[in-house]
Amino acid sequence: MTYLWLKSGHVIFVIFWMAGLFMLPRVFVYHQECAPDSPDNAAWIQRERRLLNIIMWPSLVVSWVLGLMIAWSMGYFTSGWFHFKLAAVLGLTAYHVWLAGYAAALARGERKLSGRALRMINEIPGITIPLIVILVIVRPF
Ligand code: HEM
Repeated sequence: MTYLWLKSGHVIFVIFWMAGLFMLPRVFVYHQECAPDSPDNAAWIQRERRLLNIIMWPSLVVSWVLGLMIAWSMGYFTSGWFHFKLAAVLGLTAYHVWLAGYAAALARGERKLSGRALRMINEIPGITIPLIVILVIVRPF
């Protein structure tokens, strides 16, 4: 029963986290369309900060904590599928950290990538999420 509650919590917070990972690069695209030093620019910086601090960072932490609690209680640390899942999730975590860095750079007035590049980058979670779901449900290894 505890396992099912932990797993439900895990999936709920993973959904919040993934929603943020999909949204933030989109927000960057809209942000970069406005003039630097405009009131709009300041508003986008605040939206990005809120999305990261209220939704994305807490969801990342809760997803990790609940996921690791389930893995520990079910003895998954020696399972092949779990190692691959962990590698893919570490990749998504690195992507999250990179996005947070890009938001900080935007707040400093640095616009490093084009809108097109940001849209392409948005494919990263789109490819990684199906992989993670197949690993955890089909468990091919
Ligand atoms: C943050 C680090 C993560 C850890 C340590 C972790 C670990 C786990 C563990 C141990 C389970 C239970 C598997 C089972 O007993 O069936 C689980 C379930 C699940 N995880 Fe994660 N996970 C993480 C992130 C993610 C991410 C990013 C996604 C999606 C993109 C995801 C999707 C799922 C799904 C859909 C289930 C339910 C599978 C089922 O009902 O059989 N997890 N996770």
